[in-house]
Amino acid sequence: MRVITCTKLGAPENLVVESRPDLAPLAEHVLVDVKACGVYFVDTLMVQGLYQIRPDPPFVPGGEVAGVVRSVGEGAEGFAPGDAVIATPGLNGFAEQVLLPASRLIPMPRKLSFPQAAGFYQAYCTAQFALKNRAELKKGETVLVLGAAGGVGLAAIDVARDMGARVIAAASSPEKLEACRRQGADEVILYSEEDLKLRAKELSGGGVDVVYDPVGGDFSEPALRAMAPGGRHLVIGFAGGEIPRVRWNLILLKQCQVVGVDWGGWGSRNREANAALFQDLADRVESGRLTPVPPTVYPFEDAGQALRDLMDRRVVGKAALSLG
Ligand SMILES: NC(=O)c1ccc[n+]([C@@H]2O[C@H](COP(=O)([O-])OP(=O)(O)OC[C@H]3O[C@@H](n4cnc5c(N)ncnc54)[C@H](OP(=O)(O)O)[C@@H]3O)[C@@H](O)[C@H]2O)c1
Repeated sequence: MRVITCTKLGAPENLVVESRPDLAPLAEHVLVDVKACGVYFVDTLMVQGLYQIRPDPPFVPGGEVAGVVRSVGEGAEGFAPGDAVIATPGLNGFAEQVLLPASRLIPMPRKLSFPQAAGFYQAYCTAQFALKNRAELKKGETVLVLGAAGGVGLAAIDVARDMGARVIAAASSPEKLEACRRQGADEVILYSEEDLKLRAKELSGGGVDVVYDPVGGDFSEPALRAMAPGGRHLVIGFAGGEIPRVRWNLILLKQCQVVGVDWGGWGSRNREANAALFQDLADRVESGRLTPVPPTVYPFEDAGQALRDLMDRRVVGKAALSLG
């Protein structure tokens, strides 16, 4: 089988395609033929050695894939050959095969293509956990989504709209804002040019109730300043590179909450609740309430280019690698 290997920490151009022996079936494990690999911002951090988990090269990146079960080892329950699944290896996902305990597999929603499914689990679970569990978003409230045309951003637009919220999407290009509109955003802000705080206040009629912030850097403070009293600022990530330092007096004056979101950590400590959270999302996909956009698809061997485009903010929406 072919895998994409990170031979040296640094630029994604260091990724190489390698041949490895096919994986052998193993008791308690399920062998999956990968059809598509999700490409996440986390993968770009990992190959640079900038993520909190820092494997030594050589390693195979890739945290989430979609594929078809080839074989089921003795004692592994719940899956059969031919089942379409989402698999979450965490690492080793940029490969033609993955071998995992059944607990790392989830049935794939039938409405999704393999490339859509490969980027669905983490993105949508993060959005749902943030907006429902952490912000307790209510129908009729206004959500400002930063980095809204990115992976977790578009998922947040979809989830917030389905929860009955009004969504203001902020992104850095007209093309990205158009994607946000297509995903269901009510209003958009070109935050690379417009004044984020003023526009968000104007569009929300005085202040937003929830800020969904996977970007950090210079955008977090104006977003916080655009909040209505009782607002919740969801700290999702720092794709912009800088961890913002906001003065605490602002939080006092705004009478708002700054709410940390670590879906991965919560999910591993609350497996049953996380499974229920995912099942709810999968049901809403099947019933047509949620509509994940098809990703930009790259050939498997172009993994380095996909990561480079994500790092350079060239990808509109999600990216995925296809194995045909
Ligand atoms: N807390 C959690 O549980 C959790 C779970 C999953 C992901 N995350 C985090 O969420 C963040 C976003 O992940 P993602 O997979 O959605 O990434 P993504 O698809 O690459 O989207 C990130 C967005 O951030 C914006 N951005 C601003 N400055 C950037 C820069 N210097 N480089 C790259 N992007 C920049 C881009 O939008 P514009 O060009 O429009 O500004 C881009 O669309 C990451 O930090 C990730 O680690 C957190």
